[in-house]
Amino acid sequence: MNILDAVGKKQSTQKERFEKVRTLVYPDSSDACVTLAAEVAEMVRSRQGEGKNVVLGLATGSTPVPFYRELIRLHKEEGLSLGNVITFNLDEYYGLPRDHPESYFRFMHDQLFDHVDIPAEQINIPDGTIAMDEVYEWCLGYEKQIEEAGGLDLQILGIGRTGHIGFNEPGSSQDSITRMITLDRVTRQDAAADFMGMANVPRSAITMGVGTILNARSIVLMAWGSNKAEIVQEAVEGEMNDRISASFLQDHSNSTFLVDSAASSRLTRFRHPWLVSSVEWGSAMKKRAVVWLSRSLNKPILKLVDEDYNECGAGELLASTSEAAYKVNIDVFNQVQHTISGWPGGKRDADDTNRPERSTPYPKKALILSPEPADAFLGMGGTIERLVEQGHEVVIAYQTSGNLRVADVAAHKFASVVLEMAEEDTEEGWKSQSDYAQEILRLLDDKGEFGIDPERVRSLKGLILRGESRAAADDCGVGYEAQQFLDLPFYEKGRYRRFQRTDEDSDAMRILLEAEQPDIIFATGEAGDPSSIQALSFKAFGEVWESLDQAEWRKNCSVWLYRGRDEAFESHEIDMAVPMSPDQIDGKGEAIRKFMSVNQEELGSPNRNREIAQQYDALGMAEYEAIEAFQRW
Ligand code: F6R
Repeated sequence: MNILDAVGKKQSTQKERFEKVRTLVYPDSSDACVTLAAEVAEMVRSRQGEGKNVVLGLATGSTPVPFYRELIRLHKEEGLSLGNVITFNLDEYYGLPRDHPESYFRFMHDQLFDHVDIPAEQINIPDGTIAMDEVYEWCLGYEKQIEEAGGLDLQILGIGRTGHIGFNEPGSSQDSITRMITLDRVTRQDAAADFMGMANVPRSAITMGVGTILNARSIVLMAWGSNKAEIVQEAVEGEMNDRISASFLQDHSNSTFLVDSAASSRLTRFRHPWLVSSVEWGSAMKKRAVVWLSRSLNKPILKLVDEDYNECGAGELLASTSEAAYKVNIDVFNQVQHTISGWPGGKRDADDTNRPERSTPYPKKALILSPEPADAFLGMGGTIERLVEQGHEVVIAYQTSGNLRVADVAAHKFASVVLEMAEEDTEEGWKSQSDYAQEILRLLDDKGEFGIDPERVRSLKGLILRGESRAAADDCGVGYEAQQFLDLPFYEKGRYRRFQRTDEDSDAMRILLEAEQPDIIFATGEAGDPSSIQALSFKAFGEVWESLDQAEWRKNCSVWLYRGRDEAFESHEIDMAVPMSPDQIDGKGEAIRKFMSVNQEELGSPNRNREIAQQYDALGMAEYEAIEAFQRW
């Protein structure tokens, strides 16, 4: 089925019967974007043949980037002309000059318009620079322009974690039109990294309304990565209301959610497939169903009875295995129980039949991949400490420098300290340091509040972060000599939402893996938004890993996934649960606090570990203070 085929309002099939809007799932974002771009190209070409225009509504953010890249490729390599395309962008921050690196005007030019042949006069983007008292009139004018262009043929959307489309935050009504709005706190937090700190994120924006969007003849909302899974499920399967503006797409006669498998994972047909179809009851599916049953009834696994299975739609499980509840309960209870291990690197000289990790070799060489420096500590600070205590050789490889996260004040503080020290020195021995510090202060001054850091400043910020990483690793017992700073080039050469991986990144990963030849690897980012630092770093690792399939050491190396900044694993997804004592979880908090740039939500990461422990407790497992969770790759 084509993405842009007119389908009319959602007709439910059995499997998708909880979905109130058509949802197409692709293995990953690039498959989805290649298909969508081909269909848009087809529409553009066929209209060209008729001498007509195509009117596209466009979005910014990370989500549409792979779609824009594919359009550019079609233009450059396959001669697609976009000369008959008229565009209207959804939104723009209020108060940002158009040449600001984070303005949507600039973003759209960087990501699309500068590389294709849409005539400048056919490009329309809300103007964030107009005077406050002219905004109202301006917005009415924007609506009129869309109408005069013939209305939107296709509106492309992303979705925010608040469920917003455009910047229609919770409370936006179904018939709202283009207007000025106040940004939600969660939205501003998500934009904080782009703006080098939440304080710099604008508080308001101009956005098309929900009604403006719903007037488009067709709508495609894209979402990638596990962090979008929950909001996608709510928008697609939940009630339609103004709490989640994307839910209004349920009321449109030709709208489609286009998602990758990570973003689809909370839809009923994937999360609880037995509720909508008949399934193969392998041990993973059994575990998934019983854990869900236990959690939704708030009853420990071993207390579930036949009626519970029947009443909650899992009766088929008992029927298919012709076992009574207590047998299935015990089976799943043991499965979950066996995920718990205080020996993340395996237990020496122990029978490992039912342990997540092998006992040999012992000790192991463990390689921990941290996309940004804080990730490893957020996701597995306690486990790092355990691996060290249990005698394993632990190497932490920070894949990117993370320097974009370091605030100007930190660089300013460092340069000022150096300058003062130099001034106290009467012998002129500090001349070069003093020149350096002065240059940094000047560069910071010149770039202004929102400018792009020149290389020198980025490199100083990287050094500051190295200091913080060293301190955090020290808290977990890992010395400086066991830390590697890879500074992957995609990051050093890029900027948020504009990163592009090259062979240089893979080369760096290959050199690392071949030099270390670890017995066990911990990595993260496999389910992240594809343009996030975590996902790009994981891809750089994953591709090299695949290519090394003949290496002897690699055949005996296990790979575990952890979650640092991405959505936490659900209880049934956990293959190894490493319990932590109250002291250990406090220690983890200490390590995380070494990073000045972690935000409030990330500082709360030990609470995620407490929640996992509470979930295990509720399933009827032993009661621990906290748990760090891992999945086998
Ligand atoms: C962008 C826009 C927003 C984004 C949404 C998701 O023009 O209107 O609704 O689509 O915030 O952002 P990303 O794609 O960065 O996750």
